[in-house]
Amino acid sequence: MSKKLWGGRFEKETDDLVEKFTASIDFDKRLYEQDIKGSMAHARMLARAGIIPKEEAAEIIKGLLEIKLEIERGEFPFTCELEDIHMHVESRLFEKIGPVAGKLHTARSRNDQVALDLHLYVKEKIAEVVGKIDELMKVLRKLAAENRDAVMPGYTHLQRAQPVTLSRHLKAYYYMLRRDKERFSKALKGADIMPLGACALAGTTLPIDREYTGELLGFSRIYENTIDAVSDRDFVIEFISCSAILMVHLSRMAEDLILWSTSEFDFIELDDAFATGSSIMPQKKNPDVLELIRGKAGRVFGNLMSVLTVMKGLPLSYNRDMQEDKEPLFDTADTVIGCLKVLPKLLSTMKIKKENMKKAVEESFSDATYYAEYLVKKGMPFRAAHEVVGKMVSYCIKKNKKLSDLSLREFKNFSKLFDEDVLDLSRYPEKVKNKKVL
Ligand code: ARG
Repeated sequence: MSKKLWGGRFEKETDDLVEKFTASIDFDKRLYEQDIKGSMAHARMLARAGIIPKEEAAEIIKGLLEIKLEIERGEFPFTCELEDIHMHVESRLFEKIGPVAGKLHTARSRNDQVALDLHLYVKEKIAEVVGKIDELMKVLRKLAAENRDAVMPGYTHLQRAQPVTLSRHLKAYYYMLRRDKERFSKALKGADIMPLGACALAGTTLPIDREYTGELLGFSRIYENTIDAVSDRDFVIEFISCSAILMVHLSRMAEDLILWSTSEFDFIELDDAFATGSSIMPQKKNPDVLELIRGKAGRVFGNLMSVLTVMKGLPLSYNRDMQEDKEPLFDTADTVIGCLKVLPKLLSTMKIKKENMKKAVEESFSDATYYAEYLVKKGMPFRAAHEVVGKMVSYCIKKNKKLSDLSLREFKNFSKLFDEDVLDLSRYPEKVKNKKVL
């Protein structure tokens, strides 16, 4: 009857529709490396524990290595009849080495096998993401160092608020990314637990050595509870949550840069190689890369919601619903890594228009707080100083002047506390650069 690896108790072939509906091979084939690595470690453990002969373990391992090569060379036959990557590898092993292949699945279920593959995958992806965050931080640090002299308006409510340096603005993102890195490192702890040996959910009566398998695969811990081992997807959710928070940061950075590249702001110009054109308007230069980063944040948030929703009502332990964790997980990793790859280059090639930033500071009243703080230093309560400077701003608006245009006489009309040294404040861009808190 059925050629299925689980076909023993079945008297009918699986319906074609069911085969297609349940298959995950189209997307879980990318776990082949983790699956084969896990199987090789499992075979070694079985031999060491005396559960299978050493020569047979060696035969299994040799076959698995050949299968890995076949997949890498694109010579491996994938079919939805074999459901998933685990079944594919095992069936192919049978074709290669015969019935000995049947010993590989001793003391193992696809439930702990798929959990193991995912743990290995998430661990690798965390390392990759952290490496890419590092590269982005390096570019931000370099740009911040080069732009300590670039004074620009800092914004609240998207209204010019107080002058800051471009360096300080960029460093805000640097520190967000530093927290992201810490968050991913914490997530690594959740992924660094080895589930193999839990089998379907209840472990095995065979004398396996889980510590040894864990050691071979580089895990620092093993699950203490077999039901938890096959039911847990916290580490997937943690990876996607960290990614979602990271995407909030990348999206905000993208939004700032999109605004800055408009003619209204005109603080930066994206390099031609990192912008796109319009099919109808010949003059257009669009920040599509940045818009896509902002947009892709949405799909990562959606992925988080998907996995949370898949998991929330599941009775312990494994349920097939959990197969639905893979696409959101893979998509998250691809999306985040894609964004992290393109941003450093976009940032380091963009043109920064320091003069325009400076002009924007000068055209605004963003130096007003300095005048209020001046009066505070002369002994005036801050609320009173706020009121005085507010009146000065209103006066300047009527007279079409800047605060720094006022004469000492005009200053004194607002408060007797103003002295000769108030005129120094007109050189406030220098002060911004020298401000201690950066
Ligand atoms: N493809 C399945 C998944 O991704 C593998 C585990 C299947 N286990 C089972 N008992 N049917 O979750």
